[in-house]
Amino acid sequence: MRINKERLKNSMLEIGNIGKDPTGGITRLAFSPEYNIAARRLSQMMEAAGLEVKQDRLGSVFGRRYGEDDTLPVIMFGSHLDTVKNGGFFDGLLGIMAGLEIINTLNDLGRTTKYPLELVAFNAEEGSEMGGTFASRVMAGLISPDDQYLQEHLPEYNLRPEDLAAARRDLNEIKAFIEVHIEQGTVLESEQIPIGIVNGIAGITRYKVIITGEANHSGTTPMRLRKDALITAAKLILKIEDIAVELGEPFVATIGTLEIKPGAVNVIPGEVELIIELRDLDQHKIETAGEKITSYINQLSKDIQIEKIVNKTPVKTDPGMANIIETACKKLEIPGRKILSGAGHDAKEIARKVPTGMIFVPSIAGKSHCPEEKTSWEDIYLGTEVLLETILSI
Ligand code: HGY
Ligand code: MN
Ligand code: MN
Repeated sequence: MRINKERLKNSMLEIGNIGKDPTGGITRLAFSPEYNIAARRLSQMMEAAGLEVKQDRLGSVFGRRYGEDDTLPVIMFGSHLDTVKNGGFFDGLLGIMAGLEIINTLNDLGRTTKYPLELVAFNAEEGSEMGGTFASRVMAGLISPDDQYLQEHLPEYNLRPEDLAAARRDLNEIKAFIEVHIEQGTVLESEQIPIGIVNGIAGITRYKVIITGEANHSGTTPMRLRKDALITAAKLILKIEDIAVELGEPFVATIGTLEIKPGAVNVIPGEVELIIELRDLDQHKIETAGEKITSYINQLSKDIQIEKIVNKTPVKTDPGMANIIETACKKLEIPGRKILSGAGHDAKEIARKVPTGMIFVPSIAGKSHCPEEKTSWEDIYLGTEVLLETILSI
């Protein structure tokens, strides 16, 4: 192996533990103080590796290494630096630190590449008001700075539409994009294959739902006279589960946030706000689910508002890039197989515009977005070595 295993592990521990919760999970939310500390430390490490480092106005960090022909477009690789609340150590972090390690390895080997290289750590990949994969979508020109929904939320993050315009890149400057990531599922582990070559990434649609009831005294209002928004929400949630089961795997639906107003033990819920998330590799199934949910809502109550707030369609990654990764695995004699991703990734957005490949490594017990998230260091080293070989092949 050409990479330096110890250096990779140490650099992952250094950045990955920023935002560690007392419970052992990691909370490094987009735009948070923890995110900013990690971005600053990462920038220093990238500078120490000889990269020309810039942070854009959205907080993503970019580091460029000169190519033999520096007028050529860059080969870009990396992942996201933010995490979910009380999330895992490896999600996002791996792709960034694997990228930094291959830069350091190339330095050790005294090797230059024909194309310039660019390592990126994206901000706000995880779901938030910004819709997830925020910085990568802005970079790829997939979000309009004039988007009405975003305009309302930008001030919460101290951002202006001009900042989005400034963070957009000319995609002719990017020859290819590669992201190394943990699988977050059980396919690789169950088949004991260390490398997944991603050929498709699920689409994500989210709806914001507001259910209006009538807040009133919990002790004096008989059951027959109540308009309880949470009871209506419960019916809707159970119906969504039925719809999801009926549509069949890999379709999934999740209600991960629920806000009850006013939220007191002795007040009947007067309003409930929730977000419905739908995912599949087939956009048609996502749309069918959306129609079924809307039609159920119409029959359930007239006091429910539903608004689509995220609609990111599924993508196929570039077959040429998948072949390069597959050939790299063969050359290194590391077993790999094609795989689909149910999780969203920055690579998914970039794949819409730039030839993109993704390298997965196994997740132990398929755990992710939780403190138990884990991947063996040996698999991390293999994934990083495959990244190095892939970049050298390009
Ligand atoms: O939500 C996702 O799929 C990803 O982990 N950001
Ligand atoms: Mn994630
Ligand atoms: Mn991720």
